[in-house]
Amino acid sequence: MKPTTPPRTYQVKSFGCQMNVYDGERMAELLAEKGIAPAPDGEEADLVVLNTCHIREKAAEKVYSDIGRLAKAGTETGRKPLIAVAGCVAQAEGEEIMARAPDVSMVVGPQAYHRLPGMIDKAVSGERATDTDMPADAKFAALPPRYSGRRKSAPSAFLTIQEGCDKFCTYCVVPYTRGAEISRPYSQLVDEARKLVEAGAKEITLLGQNVSAWSGEDDKGHPIGMAGLIRALAKLPDLARIRYTTSHPADMDDALIETHGEVEKLMPYLHLPVQSGNDRVLKAMNRSHTAESYLRLLERFRTARPDLALSGDFIVGFPGETEAEFEDTLKIVDEVRYAQAYSFKYSPRPGTPAATMEGQVAKEIMDDRLQRLQARLNRDQLAFNKASVGKTCEVLVERKGKHPGQWLGKSPWLQSVWFKGEAAIGDLVEVELVEAGPNSLQGEI
Ligand code: 5AD
Ligand code: SF4
Repeated sequence: MKPTTPPRTYQVKSFGCQMNVYDGERMAELLAEKGIAPAPDGEEADLVVLNTCHIREKAAEKVYSDIGRLAKAGTETGRKPLIAVAGCVAQAEGEEIMARAPDVSMVVGPQAYHRLPGMIDKAVSGERATDTDMPADAKFAALPPRYSGRRKSAPSAFLTIQEGCDKFCTYCVVPYTRGAEISRPYSQLVDEARKLVEAGAKEITLLGQNVSAWSGEDDKGHPIGMAGLIRALAKLPDLARIRYTTSHPADMDDALIETHGEVEKLMPYLHLPVQSGNDRVLKAMNRSHTAESYLRLLERFRTARPDLALSGDFIVGFPGETEAEFEDTLKIVDEVRYAQAYSFKYSPRPGTPAATMEGQVAKEIMDDRLQRLQARLNRDQLAFNKASVGKTCEVLVERKGKHPGQWLGKSPWLQSVWFKGEAAIGDLVEVELVEAGPNSLQGEI
């Protein structure tokens, strides 16, 4: 590559999960420290970071079309942006990207992005660089403290407390792209949470691929888990709301269930993926639970917190899934009545055990199953929203609406709520829910 002038502006584009959003924010902070400014809206940046997702094929393919578009834009204007590919596609296909896409000058894996500033210097001098080192501990230790400057946080902020996965579900790339489970130390997390709150965050969502597997030691050196961490964060006076995502059923202990009943700041919402309602499929997926044990676990959460809204993830068309086995998934949906859910067609991922299993399901069958599943999930989401009408709750205001005096915020159950009146971003406003649609509700102050 030819040497170039140092970039003055950047754009970080994050795809996929909320952890990528968190990582994208941290990369933006690193770039800002290096004196590079965010590119103004609608303007081409000198440096573009594509923070990618590898979870399904469609998400991964997007990277190559984005690289192509960026490289072409550069040819027309005569100003080629420096392109960095970060995230899980970088981790999984770093070498392939370097070989296939000569316009990419940096490939940086999710556990190495703290070294991005050094890679930019190299790229400026014309050298291409790849860094896909693992694990994540070094990254967190090397990142500068958050919100050390005058930046403001959004009212709802993410905080990664745990990363990686040791569960090895047979369809999933995460254990390969994010590596083994690590927990960030307690003191680092309390410190980061305090900084977020000082910068204006009212709500913190604790993030991890297996967030409930977090473990650490409190100030006194006592071993604690997620429940202890949530209780400690709830003591921050100006923090109003705590959420966490995503959990595996195997990591949900009694202490965490109790916390849902006792800590008011912990919002009544639980995202607990089940993936399938059939025990043979669950076993082939290497999920360590059955449909029945999952339902019993939910019952315990609902007993602790009766107004808990439930959310889940589903995969249809896992290799070998029969029509009858798929119908078990519909059955579990009918039992649980999710407030909200995500559902996907199985996508074979290179290097995972399920990709080479017999009985790969035809696309048309997957399309049909996904449609039938989503019809039920949508039905339940609308029913949940309708059942909320008449309730009064606090809404955390996140942004302005299109109409004058209109605001959009989130209910405790993570529903989007529109309302009109006196308010500001970051306010907690007492609102009566008066009308429900499938994706949002109308409220009145
Ligand atoms: N195909 C389809 N969906 C997948 N997920 C993970 N891997 C795959 C795959 N190979 C889904 C799971 C998981 C969510 C984040 O993505 O439902 O919970
Ligand atoms: Fe993937 Fe299973 Fe780990 Fe979730 S628990 S990240 S689905 S391997």
